[in-house]
Amino acid sequence: MKFTDVNPFNKKIQKRINKSILDTVKKKDFILGNNVNKFEKKFSTLSKSKYAVGCATGTDALILALKSLNLKSNHEVIIPGMSYISTGLSVALNNNKIIFADIDSNTGLISLNSVKKKISKNTKVVIPVNLYGQKVDIKKLRKIVGRSRYIIEDSAQSHFAFSCFDCKKSSFIKCCKKETNHKFADISCYSFYPSKNLGAYGDGGILTTDNKKLFNKIYFLRNLGAIKKNIHQYEGLNSRLDTLQATILLEKVKFTHSHNDYRRMISSFYDQQLSTIKEVKLTSSKPGSSRHLYVIRIKKRKKLANFLLKNKVPVQYHYPYSLNKAPALKNKIKKINLKNSENWAKQCLSLPLYPYMPLNDAKRVVNLIRKFYN
Ligand SMILES: Cc1ncc(COP(=O)(O)O)c(C=O)c1O
Repeated sequence: MKFTDVNPFNKKIQKRINKSILDTVKKKDFILGNNVNKFEKKFSTLSKSKYAVGCATGTDALILALKSLNLKSNHEVIIPGMSYISTGLSVALNNNKIIFADIDSNTGLISLNSVKKKISKNTKVVIPVNLYGQKVDIKKLRKIVGRSRYIIEDSAQSHFAFSCFDCKKSSFIKCCKKETNHKFADISCYSFYPSKNLGAYGDGGILTTDNKKLFNKIYFLRNLGAIKKNIHQYEGLNSRLDTLQATILLEKVKFTHSHNDYRRMISSFYDQQLSTIKEVKLTSSKPGSSRHLYVIRIKKRKKLANFLLKNKVPVQYHYPYSLNKAPALKNKIKKINLKNSENWAKQCLSLPLYPYMPLNDAKRVVNLIRKFYN
């Protein structure tokens, strides 16, 4: 059994991807080539944003977003305790102060109440993380932070996810894909790390925004701050989206919506089956989640993990420590307890999930967990 599949395509689609790679090589169109622009346009349309700028990684997308805001070193950036290291590192690398908000103990998402308590006069940015594909309620967050502060969505795990906060239907499986709460964020940052819902054949990232001024700035920043050839106006990065990766993504992006639906189907199956096991805590989720990861929480994590691994079911931890405990950030943060984030780190266990995962594999996972608790 696999934990994930970074290239879930049949021979026919693979042939198309290979052909488009070869076409780009033949054209020798390698740096900021035509396909980068084409992919940016496609991605902005699909993510319902006005502008998109490709870059080298999801981590760089966060760094470029922060760089575009002209922050000072005493400016504070609020991030959740539970996320991938990049959310914290980007703030540290931009020389801003990291302020932690705790997470909600049911969803794992940043707690809006905790954000409220952490806001100070120096708070300039909040970075909500759409963990595992679930969307943070940005509309509510905007009400809390006001218009004078920025919201940067870390959407590395939530390509084309929807939050359905105002949806009145209660018993539906398929998301109607209409909600656009991300409009209340200033910038959304995505990763194309291969295992993501939309993954490249290497690294890649993108930022989306509706703000033309921020778009222009980020557009220059990702290319060494150059406004024209050899006119370097801003302190930028060399963080261009590789044309070959854009070429691959242009083909792969056609399938992201249907892949997300497949992930939703497997996740709903897990939800239904595992909700009857009293030792297992589910991550409470909305139908529009892109279901990047399927994460449960349990007390005897190590024992269950070892049992599953012994039975050839690969499992992982997302993430094994909360960011306030990350060695890389140790010198940048004050000692603080984040009860929910720390508990989450101790108890979380990610189960196999990927597009076209055989339903029988999911059944096997469930049966083994049941057997373990019996
Ligand atoms: C929540 C989150 N933020 C940021 C990143 C960074 O993306 P990348 O690996 O492309 O730098 C990732 C993924 O790895 C992530 O999961």
